[in-house]
Amino acid sequence: MTNAIVESAEPDRASMPSLADVLPSFRLDGHVTVVTGGSGGLAHTLCQALLAQGSELALLDISVDRLEYARLELEEFARCNKLGEVRVSTWPCDIGDAAIVDEVVHAIPLKHDGIVPDKLVHTAGFCQNVPAHEYDPKAAENLVRVNLMGSLYICQSMTKQLLAKCRRRRSVSSESREAGEALPQLPNASFVLIGSMSGCIVNTPQPQVAYNMSKAGVIHMVRSLACEWARYGIRVNSISPGYIATALTKKVISGSQEGAALQQEWTSRVPMGRMAEPREFVGAMLYLLSSTASSYTTGENMVIDGGYVCW
Ligand SMILES: NC(=O)c1ccc[n+]([C@@H]2O[C@H](COP(=O)([O-])OP(=O)(O)OC[C@H]3O[C@@H](n4cnc5c(N)ncnc54)[C@H](O)[C@@H]3O)[C@@H](O)[C@H]2O)c1
Repeated sequence: MTNAIVESAEPDRASMPSLADVLPSFRLDGHVTVVTGGSGGLAHTLCQALLAQGSELALLDISVDRLEYARLELEEFARCNKLGEVRVSTWPCDIGDAAIVDEVVHAIPLKHDGIVPDKLVHTAGFCQNVPAHEYDPKAAENLVRVNLMGSLYICQSMTKQLLAKCRRRRSVSSESREAGEALPQLPNASFVLIGSMSGCIVNTPQPQVAYNMSKAGVIHMVRSLACEWARYGIRVNSISPGYIATALTKKVISGSQEGAALQQEWTSRVPMGRMAEPREFVGAMLYLLSSTASSYTTGENMVIDGGYVCW
């Protein structure tokens, strides 16, 4: 059967899409990506991919020594892979302290030729395994402060700075003064927060109520921010990993017989029968950061867990 519309259509060269119209770009040249938990295991691989796509990096972490080490390693990675000159700045920062986060975010452009960061990869966080009825309230509160409130603080600070930049631009442009009420538009701004499958299911056998609460909070916070900030063009999404074989988890599972049994228990619950490698999150991150690939994706939680939550 022929398609009448296609058959009758005159070739219309003017409207022929170019490759750039149909193929998304994952390049991040000219952008600064803020990576929190920048000296962590997952961040390590994600940062390598970000550099390879041309992004400058601002690494935030509470662990000052490991931050410097992470920067040196990334520069070495860039050198070995002939990526040319890369720029990586490091920022000691407790993500659960709103005032410090604000201070750091506002200082970042000073080390990046005035570029205001519009890409975020938020990985900072930690887990504690404590039975719920024995959990010290202060310890639980501290975990929620870092994992959940920290997620809000970094998004707030970056958005405030981005909106302020748009307003400054408008105030010096007579053309846009006439537009008067126009909202700031930030079509490249994309925030990716690392949640966890623990925000959707309850892990077993280890008890981790505060962590699970905090990650469920992150996933719903992402939806709330996505709805509020869609009017500015800022997209907010989360990636929720299952168990990842990072240096940290490898140390836990290879350190004792108990650890090995724990890994067996975990992987027996994964349809794909194994833990994830950090590189298996790179594609999702680049998709979500790309303003052409994921321009219509916001408020989404991408669960990447080898099928864990299906069982
Ligand atoms: N490893 C896994 O199996 C797994 C699974 C699901 C989700 N996640 C999540 O992925 C993210 C990264 O995990 P990872 O495996 O790379 O762990 P990691 O411990 O290697 O990295 C986390 C980083 O966050 C930093 N951090 C902790 N508290 C901080 C604070 N108050 N302020 C600033 N930085 C702080 C740590 O110093 C560390 O460098 C975390 O949010 C974690 O909850 C991990």
